[in-house]
Amino acid sequence: MTKILVTGGLGQIGSELTAALKNQYGKDQVVTCDLAELSQVHQEFHPYEKGDVLNAKQFQDILKKHQITEIYHLAAILSAVGEQKPQHCWKVNIDGLYNVLEASIECGVKKVVCPSSIAVFGPETPQIKTPQETILLPKTMYGLTKVAGELLCDYYVSKFNLDVRGLRYPGLISYKTLPGGGTTDYAVEIFYAALKGEKYTCFLKPDTVLPMMYMPDAVRGTIELAETSFKDLKHHSNFNFASMSFSCQELADEIKKHIPNFQIEYVPDHRQQIAETWPQSIDDCTARKEWNWKPQYDLKAMVKDMLHNLKQKT
Ligand code: NAD
Ligand code: SER
Repeated sequence: MTKILVTGGLGQIGSELTAALKNQYGKDQVVTCDLAELSQVHQEFHPYEKGDVLNAKQFQDILKKHQITEIYHLAAILSAVGEQKPQHCWKVNIDGLYNVLEASIECGVKKVVCPSSIAVFGPETPQIKTPQETILLPKTMYGLTKVAGELLCDYYVSKFNLDVRGLRYPGLISYKTLPGGGTTDYAVEIFYAALKGEKYTCFLKPDTVLPMMYMPDAVRGTIELAETSFKDLKHHSNFNFASMSFSCQELADEIKKHIPNFQIEYVPDHRQQIAETWPQSIDDCTARKEWNWKPQYDLKAMVKDMLHNLKQKT
């Protein structure tokens, strides 16, 4: 029987992926793991294990205790925090991943899903419709841990026959849990300011275009990839994955259609430099071909749904 562990399960993606997996496989079949104390964790995330992926022994004990068969490994440090704390970013994203992969072999885990990111690309990469196979020369610590992570995952596929899969998420937009310190966080923060009637100070320039995706598409796509038959996959840990691209100004203009008084100012900070090394749009034809990926939300539909759901929440 499938028994799933979601590391980083309280984060922006984990909090929504865990719920979707529980719907699909049953509440008790999905164990959430993160750094918080059990007493601070809402019941919806139970069964819950406090666990640090840097503690290999503790992590193996969790896998054995729950007889885990599949792991969604989401525990990571994102781009902006990663530039503030590069050593910690390397440790969590590389040593943590290594521990997860080694423990998977040791404990007989059948499948590991581990996200990568558009941060694997760099200024030398073609910025428009970035192809699947291209130059991977990132300039951030986060990006280079993601390139090494993809290579490490593919090594475990070929060397140890471990089923590992991953996709290069674009910036993800969601209303349940705030993002954890990335360069694309502006595209979530902007909605909170707009609904509070506050002027939003954007940390990127108005014409900065980045690839983005709405969380329902990201969660559905992740589960679809996980459920594809292994023999149908030629790629494993590095699928380009896309739905929409827009500039900060275009997002603000779309929000203004719903909240005409919304105001925005632009005060670019260190994250602008990171954004400028990333692509503007992604060619995801390989994901479409190998596991039938197809997004459902565009900018207009995403903004409407975000505002509707955030209004109910706040
Ligand atoms: P997040 O920062 O919201 O959540 C990460 C979680 O990991 C947090 O809850 C944190 O407490 C936990 N964590 C950190 N260090 C840990 C450790 N040592 N042991 C156990 N848990 C630890 O991140 P997210 O946005 O949910 O990202 C999940 C994955 O998706 C990451 O691999 C990230 O690189 C990737 N990704 C995210 C985005 C995005 O826009 N959110 C885009 C591209 C890729
Ligand atoms: N949203 C992520 C970040 O900005 C991309 O990996 O770090």
